[in-house]
Amino acid sequence: MEKQSNTFQILAIPGSSRRRSYNRQLLEVAGRAAPDGVTVEMVDLALIPFYDGDVEAAGDPPAVRDLKARVRAADALLIATPEYNGAVPGLLQNAIDWASRPYGASALVDKPVAIIGASPGDGGTARAQRMLRQTLTNTRALPLPAPELAVPRAASLFDDEGALADLGLAEQLREVIVALVDWTRQQSVNDTRAA
Ligand code: FNR
Repeated sequence: MEKQSNTFQILAIPGSSRRRSYNRQLLEVAGRAAPDGVTVEMVDLALIPFYDGDVEAAGDPPAVRDLKARVRAADALLIATPEYNGAVPGLLQNAIDWASRPYGASALVDKPVAIIGASPGDGGTARAQRMLRQTLTNTRALPLPAPELAVPRAASLFDDEGALADLGLAEQLREVIVALVDWTRQQSVNDTRAA
């Protein structure tokens, strides 16, 4: 189906439903840092139930239908993952599992995805990002190869009022978005060549 809009649409997915989530705030900064012609819309995973094959067989719950529709409608995804015990939090893994279903008709196939993350520790979610990259590859999504962005010591960048001014961070996020747009266009060129 032809897209109605000329803007490049990114669906931003924070892997945390915490009100003052560093990862949600990182995506808010990304939305403000996006270049002209790029929109960044945020999804909330809080209402998505745990994946259950019986629930799926009875029909996707509304929050799952909404997630899948928004993933399909987006040109690309920007996921900000927290790190729990060195891994991707269940909230985010669960949403990816739903979006990857049903097998053969997954909303994630060929979907370009940039992965970022922030944590109060020194690692900046690097371990969770590696896992997420592997998981997304298994779903046949197309993780952006570079640049990577793992933001450590997030407590010094965000406070209860939101993101503190950090022009360096905004510029790094802008670079990720520009690379994601290029990566998506490269995939479209490859599709056209293959057709
Ligand atoms: C954490 N946290 C954490 N941080 C980290 O850098 N590496 C880790 O392995 C873990 N492990 C971990 C496990 C569990 C169960 C929790 C609840 C937390 C801390 C985590 O980075 C912190 O809570 C962030 O604030 C979570 O991200 P949001 O909610 O701010 O986006």
